[in-house]
Amino acid sequence: MSRRTFIAGNWKMNTTIDEAVDLAKGVVAAVGSVTDVDVAVCPPYTNLSAVAEIVKDTNVKLGAQDVHWEEKGAYTGKISCAMLKALGVELVIVGHSEQRTYFGETDETVNKKVAAAIAAGLGPIVCVGETLDERNGGNMETVVERQVRGAFAGMAAADVFKCVVAYEPVWAIGTGVNATAQQANDAHIFIRKILADMYDDDLAQTIVIQYGGSMKPANAKELLGQSDVDGGLIGGASLKAADFAGIVTPA
Ligand code: 13P
Repeated sequence: MSRRTFIAGNWKMNTTIDEAVDLAKGVVAAVGSVTDVDVAVCPPYTNLSAVAEIVKDTNVKLGAQDVHWEEKGAYTGKISCAMLKALGVELVIVGHSEQRTYFGETDETVNKKVAAAIAAGLGPIVCVGETLDERNGGNMETVVERQVRGAFAGMAAADVFKCVVAYEPVWAIGTGVNATAQQANDAHIFIRKILADMYDDDLAQTIVIQYGGSMKPANAKELLGQSDVDGGLIGGASLKAADFAGIVTPA
C-alpha cells in the first residue's frame, strides 16, 4: 500500500495578512522542497491570495478552511468554490468540528460542500470525530460512522477517491491531549471499514486519512508511524514554521 503522507496546516482564525506572509515564507523555506510528503497550508480567506503567491512553484499546496456549496448569489459572508479556484486554491477543509459546533454545520451541509468542491475540482479534506462525551459513552464508532456516511452520501466512488478524510477527535483539538497512537489507528481502521462497506476495499485502502488533534513534533513520529495514519491536520503547531516542519519531517 502506497499512501503518501499528507501534512496540512489549518491556521484557523489566526494571522493578519502580514503574519500570514511571514508564516508562509517560513513554511516554504523549511519544507517547500520536500518531495516525499505532501504538504498544504490553509490560511484564512483574507490571506489566500497573498499566500498563493508565496507557495506558487513550491511543493506546498494551498487550501481554504471552508466553502459554500452554492455557485453564487445572495449568501452574505459566504465564499464559493469558483472564488477559491480563481485564487489557485486546490484543497478545502469541510466539516471541521469547529464549524459543526459553532456554526451549525451538519452532515447534510458537509455532504453538499464535498459534492460542490469535487464538482469544481477542489480536493476536500473531510473532517470527522467524536466529542469526549461521545467517546466516554461508547459512541465513538456510531458518531464517526454517521459522519462518514453522511459526508459521502450519494457520491460515486470516483469522487470519494478525490477526498482526504481527517479524523479529529474533538477532545484532542487544541487541548494538548492527543489521541494515543493506538486510539488514532483504531479509528482510522474503523473509517476504512465503513468506506469498504460503502464502496470497496480498493477505495478504503487508497484514501488518505489524516489524524488531527494536538499533533506536534514530539508526538508526530509515533502517530505517523501507525499503519493507518497517513498524515496530520495540524492546528496550533502549524502556526510556527519550525513546529510545522518538525511534523512534516519528524526527527
Ligand atoms: P490542534 O492541532 O490545535 O489540536 O488543532 C487540530 C485541528 O483542529 C486541525 O484542524
